[in-house]
Amino acid sequence: AVPLRAVLLGCGTVGGGVAAALPQGLSLSGVLTRTRRDGVGPNTPVFSRLQDIQALHPHIVIETLPGGPLAEAALDWAVGISAHVVTANKAAVARRPDLVRRARAQNTAFACSAAVGGGVPVLESIERLQVSGHPPASVRAVLNGTSNFVLDRLADGGSLDEAVPAAQQAGFAEADPSADLDGLDAAAKLVLIARTAWDVDLDPDAIPVQSIRDLPAGAALRAAQAGVRLRQVARLDRTDTGLHASVTLEAVRLDDPLARARREENVVILTSPSRPPLILSGKGAGRGPTSASVLGDVRRVLSGHWR
Ligand code: HSE
Repeated sequence: AVPLRAVLLGCGTVGGGVAAALPQGLSLSGVLTRTRRDGVGPNTPVFSRLQDIQALHPHIVIETLPGGPLAEAALDWAVGISAHVVTANKAAVARRPDLVRRARAQNTAFACSAAVGGGVPVLESIERLQVSGHPPASVRAVLNGTSNFVLDRLADGGSLDEAVPAAQQAGFAEADPSADLDGLDAAAKLVLIARTAWDVDLDPDAIPVQSIRDLPAGAALRAAQAGVRLRQVARLDRTDTGLHASVTLEAVRLDDPLARARREENVVILTSPSRPPLILSGKGAGRGPTSASVLGDVRRVLSGHWR
């Protein structure tokens, strides 16, 4: 069979891992990157402007750019040309429910497994519950690895000024780490979870968030001394009065499953009245786990089993 033409947009922490491990059955026609080209073979053309890559008419667009207008324009274009889309972009996908719905209507893939939980199959598990007719009633989760990493450094007496660059260096924090610290990254992930579980579109900007930057000095240290751990806790609750979403900083007991989230780990507790809780945990950020999730989606698109 003739290989499908793919383009890769973004070649940072996630994209670089994807470029290095693309499966057979795909030919990489071009990569959009301004700075790095790790993982990209010497014969693959590299472009710095979206317009230039648009001339390649790909069948599959793999998007691993930072969230923002460029990513949204790129996804808009990809859906517009009826390409299959695989994206890791929680911010863009949260903001643009129209893209997901357009792709569904035209029967092209719009896969974003990597956007929530990195290597943890969060959306995949929720989708299974949803199609079986038993979506969760509530979600309580640590969805951002950078927040653990930073809160634990603060609990050890460190400062934000050293913890945040260390989280970037480890490949966990976003290019603009304020999204991690301020709870916006977790809020975007809640939007994707709510869409998958209940087919509702929350406005990410309307979700109340609490920022690590607003923590009183020494709060994480004092929590550690008191035998609890501060965590950035993301919640969704479906009640008679509607769907409630929030991202707050909470002192969790050490026997709480959420306290198990260390470094880049995510922990997701899915509850429903009819069964015991389903608890997912694992590496929620970083090159290896996140690019593996993207590649899983790419393989599903290639096999035609993405529906
Ligand atoms: N910046 C995110 C995190 C990356 O720290 O969890 C994974 O989405």
